Amino acid sequence: MTGNELREVMRRSPAPVAVVTGIDDREEFGLTVGSLVSLSLDPPLVGVSIGKDSARHEPMRNAGAFAVSILSERQAALAQHFARSGVPPLALWVDVATRPGKHGPLLEGALAWLECRTWAEYDAGDHTLFLGEVVSTELGATGRGLAYRDSTYHPA
Ligand SMILES: Cc1cc2nc3c(=O)[nH]c(=O)nc-3n(C[C@H](O)[C@H](O)[C@H](O)COP(=O)(O)O)c2cc1C
Repeated sequence: MTGNELREVMRRSPAPVAVVTGIDDREEFGLTVGSLVSLSLDPPLVGVSIGKDSARHEPMRNAGAFAVSILSERQAALAQHFARSGVPPLALWVDVATRPGKHGPLLEGALAWLECRTWAEYDAGDHTLFLGEVVSTELGATGRGLAYRDSTYHPA
């Protein structure tokens, strides 16, 4: 059983698309994730799994907190932008409409936002599973969200 076989299976399962942002030593980082899950209501906990090879993995560990923007169907270009490799930290934010959050920039136009304190980190093979205690939530405009399935973005 290989990782590629698992990937083939999971490609058929639509994943909600979000951008996780944070601040490490005054430098803002952000990446697109399909791994956001709601885990507990009391306390309110969510999880995101971040690849250990990602340049954003260490910033995520150091930050100790993160923000999540849950993308709308109109934000596929932003999802692509925050999935790009090798973008210098400052260039990541050029022409991206944000407002400051407590734990990371919040992307304008998202469906909803979460601000989280890192509650726990678990080794998850080639990823680290970050559990975030949700300290605040905010709802944006209503509408359809963005899902990723078969390497393509879909309204959901
Ligand atoms: C739809 C989508 C979902 C993704 N989900 C995750 C994820 O849950 N965790 C993760 O570490 N990377 C995920 N990625 C990849 C990251 O957005 C990004 O490409 C990667 O962190 C780049 O690493 P680098 O900065 O080292 O090049 C996803 C990419 C896409 C397009």
